[in-house]
Amino acid sequence: MDVSIIPTDYQPRADLMKGKNILVTGAGDGIGRAAAMAYAAHGATVLLLGRTASKLEAVYDAIEASGAPKPAMIEIDFATAPEQSYIDLATELGGEFKHLDGLLHNAALLGDRRSIQSAGYADWQDVMQVNVNAQFILTRTLLPLLNLAESASLIFTSSSVGRVGKAYWGSYAVSKFATEGLMQVLAGELENTSNIRVNSLNPRATNTAMRRAAFPAETPTDNPSPEDIMQGYLFLMGDDSAGITGRTFDVR
Ligand SMILES: NC(=O)c1ccc[n+]([C@@H]2O[C@H](COP(=O)([O-])OP(=O)(O)OC[C@H]3O[C@@H](n4cnc5c(N)ncnc54)[C@H](OP(=O)(O)O)[C@@H]3O)[C@@H](O)[C@H]2O)c1
Repeated sequence: MDVSIIPTDYQPRADLMKGKNILVTGAGDGIGRAAAMAYAAHGATVLLLGRTASKLEAVYDAIEASGAPKPAMIEIDFATAPEQSYIDLATELGGEFKHLDGLLHNAALLGDRRSIQSAGYADWQDVMQVNVNAQFILTRTLLPLLNLAESASLIFTSSSVGRVGKAYWGSYAVSKFATEGLMQVLAGELENTSNIRVNSLNPRATNTAMRRAAFPAETPTDNPSPEDIMQGYLFLMGDDSAGITGRTFDVR
């Protein structure tokens, strides 16, 4: 797999995301929260999707207080939401926002890190539901709205263990391989028929709750904060990456 790196000298314009409607999943915490704040700070109307209302409200309030365009909140639990919830969401967003210019698939579950021999089936299914199945159904239902944008970007969040398999990373690693696969299949289907570009982005080690849970022996502050890695999230979501599709990126 050829991995591209975000240009290190990339400087997003202050109004890069002006006039754009961008949906971020897992927007209440970690990298999703930082991405939502960064898109809003560059002028986007951000649709904050997550499963914990109090976290979404905190991000909503922070964006509103910053003077950025008023965001919207969407409470959905990817582990349990039925297909109809996604269909209803697309109808509501179509009514309110008309078109969608970007979708950042960021929400994910870490799941148990055990051997395949000892992995629990319920945990395996939960991780696949949140990390893969929910991405599929959200993408399918929102594609018509993305197609209405002049130029739209879809970013799938990958991981190093979704590119080279690693022992004991079980369901999480397999879900990230599936994420790369979904990105490639979709990018191929849309390349010559739409204005939607589709890429994957690996944030690499970043100081979030997920990273701290996966590597409890690390000193958290040895890793960059989510805010430190936003250059790549802005590059791929904004029009400076127009024409780039089907590619696999690392933030650094
Ligand atoms: N941090 C790293 O070092 C690292 C490295 C490689 C890849 N990644 C990837 O980067 C992305 C963001 O991870 P992060 O480090 O920011 O993790 P995080 O802080 O744990 O955030 C994960 C987000 O996903 C949401 N989420 C989890 N289950 C959900 C569900 N059932 N329905 C809806 N939302 C759900 C969480 O919501 P709640 O807060 O409400 O639980 C949270 O907002 C993930 O795709 C992860 O795999 C991270």
